[in-house]
Formats: sequence, structure tokens, C-alpha cells
Amino acid sequence: MCGIFGCVLKEGNAAPLIHSSLKRLEYRGYDSVGIATISEGKIFVKKDMGKIDEVDRIVDLDDMPGSIGIGHTRWATHGAPLKVNSHPHGDCKGEIMVVHNGIIENFLELRAELQNLEHTFVSKTDTEVIPHLIEQTLKNNPKLSLVEAILETLKRVEGSYALAVISTREPDKIICARNESPLVLGIDSNGVYCASDIPAFLPITNKAVMINNGELVILSAKGYEIKKICDSSPVVREPITIEWSPEMAVKQGYPHFMIKEIHEQPETIRNTLRMQDHYLDLLSTFLDRANEVFLVACGTSYHACLAASYMFSKLAFLPTYPVYASEFVEQHGKSVSIDSTILAVSQSGETADTIGSVTCAQQRAATILSLTNVIGSSLTRVSRVYIGTQAGPEIGVAATKTFTSQLSVLAQLALRLAKKRGKVSQDEIDCLEEQLARLPNTVETIVNTQEQKIKEIAKKYKDAKVFFFLGRGISTATAFEGRLKLMEIAYIPAIAFPAGESKHGPISLIEDGFPVVFICPRDETHRTVIGNIMEMKARGAHIIAVIEEGDEDIKSLADDYVEVPKGIPGVLSPIPFVVPLQLLAYYTALAKGCNPDMPRNLAKCVTVK
Ligand code: M6R
Repeated sequence: MCGIFGCVLKEGNAAPLIHSSLKRLEYRGYDSVGIATISEGKIFVKKDMGKIDEVDRIVDLDDMPGSIGIGHTRWATHGAPLKVNSHPHGDCKGEIMVVHNGIIENFLELRAELQNLEHTFVSKTDTEVIPHLIEQTLKNNPKLSLVEAILETLKRVEGSYALAVISTREPDKIICARNESPLVLGIDSNGVYCASDIPAFLPITNKAVMINNGELVILSAKGYEIKKICDSSPVVREPITIEWSPEMAVKQGYPHFMIKEIHEQPETIRNTLRMQDHYLDLLSTFLDRANEVFLVACGTSYHACLAASYMFSKLAFLPTYPVYASEFVEQHGKSVSIDSTILAVSQSGETADTIGSVTCAQQRAATILSLTNVIGSSLTRVSRVYIGTQAGPEIGVAATKTFTSQLSVLAQLALRLAKKRGKVSQDEIDCLEEQLARLPNTVETIVNTQEQKIKEIAKKYKDAKVFFFLGRGISTATAFEGRLKLMEIAYIPAIAFPAGESKHGPISLIEDGFPVVFICPRDETHRTVIGNIMEMKARGAHIIAVIEEGDEDIKSLADDYVEVPKGIPGVLSPIPFVVPLQLLAYYTALAKGCNPDMPRNLAKCVTVK
């Protein structure tokens, strides 16, 4: 998740405006920044790694000529956060510059093809194939206009993008396009703007034009012209007036980052499922060869590890040990050796306990693998191989979208490993891969259809003194995560454990009206879970069940229920089933008057042990 911005001004210099607009997009990423402007037929570029202010202090981003330009603030996905990987990226001659937010899935094939045609690549990014492909298209057919060449190029590109292009060939315009990554235009009397998000231009204008997937836009002194990428046909769309305050706009109209991030999950899971094959292959090869695998993390990331231990076991027949990072050194430090493999999972990549565990294991010659949302973080620097979770910056202290992204990577890894080890039939793998690909839509359906109902449930139980969260099998991890969310932002004490454990002690707490949340996917645990629900109900508990649509057995037992779409395999169930629990925590916090984005005593990144 990066931020792009472009402007064509009638009067004034573009660079200072691009600079200030990028500052308002910095919440989308801050690994590097870059601006390209065009003046008197020449392109000027300034870019470097670091936050916008840091880079500006060194290169003076405002001091660039020209009234047309594009800019980018980066959240690294392909390629470390270095100057060389900073946008804009250019073609061989530096005549075409591109800024891009998204992931080009087929960039390896395209890059190989272009390298065979003598194109020189300087970065490790997926984006760099775009200017080279435009260059090659124009070389093959010099009669094409820039727009035609970009349209041709986009037909060859697979993946997600919001991009903006300038070129010395037609220096009076910016061409931008969208597929899946957000793109919006701003319009005022002095010019036209394109951006990843409305806050970028909101202090300048509140007239916006939303761009849809599969559309290309030409920005010039004449205004904007939208075309469909598939057949170049024109699209007519009038600007709308945005009523948001600048503060609301950063949250895209949502009252809190947490709810914005919950709603972003269809997109972030979709992006995460675009994982490059070779990273999955590499990581699964290491896991396959490992003698013992520890899954090490804290908080929500630990819950992803717990779920992953079920995935690895069920699909790849690989036993793994999920361990709290804060306990790893005490519990396993001495026994870790060259034969051990650590898969560390951390949103921030900076959590002190996780880094401490990894450092200890590294000193004992263990293999370090990791999964993080922040490429360039300490964790990526100490890992032999790492994978980025592609969730974009998460600002709410409560982890939401990064959890479902972690699970999406871990599920892909487990499937890859299953394939490698030949443990599961190809039919089953195909079916699970299909189901995984459907999860972004499933999550979208849950948010769209269940949010109102969950709001009501939250109001009903907001004064409860304590909650139980119960699940069996992989749903134990979902229950743990639901409990953590509720506790950390709504300050309600909550207890979670595998449902089977309830009879071994915790059930003695149950009395009339005690809320018990059951996670009930229709997997092999379903029947036993019904038994556990009955036991709780018999003692007066109020049952709040997260069920599959049409699960009449549990519906008839539950006091309240939330439904997720049918047909989700148990092994993938934590991804959709956690979403109602995130919403429950969020709306309970609101009902209790708590600020879910800033829970007391907590920090987004815990860098002390
Ligand atoms: O950045 P990390 O994933 O390493 O952070 C781990 C925990 O601190 C984090 O998940 C924490 O528990 C969140 N507040 C949960 O919402």
C-alpha cells in the first residue's frame, strides 16, 4: 500500500504541491519518497529512502521546475526500502517515469522478456517493468501515441495497480490508470490531480471524480478524459463534492482507523494472496527440510502462529511448535540448534521479544525465516528468507487486517508445503486454493451483511463483567484472537480456551446471563461444539455463536448469532470467522465510550521486553 499523487497545473510549480500532498498520504507508507516533474521537455527526478521530511531535508523536494509532476510515498513490497527501489521508476532512456501502488504479479516473466530485448533494470521492484514495457511498445510501433502505448502495456500487466505516468514524448499530460488499487481525481480551476486517496488534495479542492477498475485517465490543461482500458471507449463521469473534514478524510470517512482497517480486509487479503510463487517455494523448502519448527510471535501474531500450527499439521503433516516470543528463550533457548528452524511472525518486525528470540536462535545457528508487514524492519534484516504480508500500514493499535493477511500467507505456505510433501490429494489442494481465492469476497459479505447485527449484539452485552470465547481445533486460535480484541479495546476481562477444556475448571464461573462466544465452523469439530454449547446453556450462559449461514442446529441453541457464508473449509476458517469478533470488539468499545484506536497502556509496537 503506497501513495501516489500527480498534478497538471495551469499556474505554479507542481513540486511543492506534490510534496505537501504526499505528506497527507504518508499514512499509506513511508519507506521512501520520490517526485518527477517535467519542464521544457525534460524530466527531473528527486527520490530517496526515508520519511518525506528526512528526504526533503537532504534534497529539497520543492525545488524542482515544471507545472506537471508525479510523486510517490512507498510501503515496500518488492525490493528493500532503498533509494534504488524508490519510485518514480523510469525506462532505459529516462524519458518515461512511473509511480505505482499495487503489485504486478507477472513482473518476473515481463522482466525476463524485456531483459532479453536489452532493457536494463536497476531496481528490484515489480513496478520497473511498466516504464520499460511502455518504452518497448513504442519501439515496436513508433506511431502509437503515449496513451495507446500505455493501453497496450496495461493489457499485458497482471495484478493490481494505481499508476501515473509522465513522458517527454507528450510532456503536457499525465496518464493514470486503475486496477484494484484506489485512484481518485481532484478538480479545481487551477488544475487536475490524481491521487491514491482524497486527503491528498482535500485542502486544495473538494471536487472529486472516483476512478473505477479498468479505467485510464488523461490529465491535461484541458481537464480529464476517462477511457476504458479494454476497448478505449470514453467514460463520462462528473465530479462529486466531498463533505469530509481533512481529519475524516485520512480515515476515508470512517470514525476510527480500526474500523477502516477492518473494512479494508477484502482488499488486503486479496493483495496478500498475490504472493510471488518463488517466495512461497523458498520458504516452504526450508520448512520441508527442517527437523523442528518453532513458530514464534507475540499477541495477535502469536494467534496467527497457533492457527498455522493446525494448518501445517493438517495439510502438510508437519508438526510445529507455536511459542510466545516472550517465553521462547527460557523455554527453548538452550535446546535450539543448527537443526532448528524459527518462523517468526510480526506485524511490525520490531517487537523486542520476537527479535530477542530470533537473535538467540541465530546465535545457536538456527535457520531464521519470517513473516512481517514491514519490509526493511529489524526482523527482515536477521532473516534468511522473509515474506511481506502486503496489508499496508496498520495504524489502529488493535491488529486486524494484518492478522488476516498473516493467516493468508500461512495458509498459502501450508498448501505449498502439502503439495511438496505429497500429503494431500491434488483435488483437495485445488479445492482449498479455490476457497482461499474466494475469501476476500467472503469477508466482504460478512462486513456488508453482519455489521449492523453485531452492533446490536455489542450494545446488548456491553455491561457484561466477563466473556468466554470458545472454539475447538483451529478455532481455538480464533477464540484467542476474539478475546484479545475485546479485552484490549473494550477493557472487558475475557477468557479463551479450547472448548473441550471448559469442563476441566472454567465452567464453574458460569452463571445466569454469562456471555459465551462460540466459534462454530462446519468442520469436524461441529458436533462436539454443539455438546459444549449445551453444557454452557444448561448452566445459564448466554450463547453468542459465530456460525455458517443456515446452521439451524446451532441457531436453535444460540441467544444471538452472526452468520458467515457457507462452505468455508475448517482449515481456512480463522480468516473469515475472526472478522465478526473484530467488529464485536470495536462496537463494544464504542458502546462503552472507549477510543478503539488508542487503548490505554498499549503501543502499536512494543520495543521493550
Ligand atoms: O508487531 P507484532 O505483530 O510483533 O506485535 C505483536 C503484538 O504486540 C500485537 O499483536 C498486539 O498484541 C496487538 N495490540 C494486538 O491487537
